[in-house]
Amino acid sequence: MDFLNLLQKRYATKCYDESKVVPAEVVDKIMECARLTPTAVNAQPYHFYVCSGESKKKLYDGVLEFNQPRFASASHAIVIASKKRMDEEHLERVLAQEESDGRLPNAEIKEAQDKSRRHFCGIHVAANDFVDWTGCQAYIALGTILYAAASYGVDTTTLEGVDFAKVDEILGLDARNETCQVVVLLGYAAADDFNALEKAPKSRLAFDDLNTFLK
Ligand SMILES: Cc1cc2nc3c(=O)[nH]c(=O)nc-3n(C[C@H](O)[C@H](O)[C@H](O)COP(=O)(O)O)c2cc1C
Repeated sequence: MDFLNLLQKRYATKCYDESKVVPAEVVDKIMECARLTPTAVNAQPYHFYVCSGESKKKLYDGVLEFNQPRFASASHAIVIASKKRMDEEHLERVLAQEESDGRLPNAEIKEAQDKSRRHFCGIHVAANDFVDWTGCQAYIALGTILYAAASYGVDTTTLEGVDFAKVDEILGLDARNETCQVVVLLGYAAADDFNALEKAPKSRLAFDDLNTFLK
């Protein structure tokens, strides 16, 4: 499907058909797309917790009341968590991965890459906005997940309506130097979903309101 068409058709699902489960291989494809998300200096300062079954039930108390019905009826909940502080082990893992993927042909390039990544991470440590910056990277992955899911016929809801501290506590994220940035539900919309496009057409500001072409 054409990408524009995909964006016109996807929407934030409010009611899921709870009898429908997203197959594991489809979830894996969506998360493989998320893995390929671009991030600043390839830092990938996040982790995805793909919850179903008991792990999803445990998260329920971390979801604000107005979102609980959709959370309960969705097939999966993905918690996108991002790094709270610089993480030496993580930086080393990213560098080792780049090396094994063939991006760092010699020691000089490897050192330069490491230095550059640490420099950009350091800017945000110094500005005291490191977690906001890693959160921005998490939101790029959020976009990937929404559109990847739509391309595989899976419906989604982004949830900022969660108790972030509670989600962190339930998943033990603080001990992993992570914090929940956002949650995404996956599933299949109920036939009577009140937010379906036939009942609630998509609404966005006009093209000219959002764009200024400068020459
Ligand atoms: C960052 C973000 C947070 C959102 N949080 C919630 C939420 O907590 N609960 C909910 O039902 N919808 C939530 N939404 C859905 C938006 O309301 C919806 O995407 C927006 O109105 C545009 O509609 P559309 O996605 O159907 O095109 C969120 C969307 C985004 C992108």
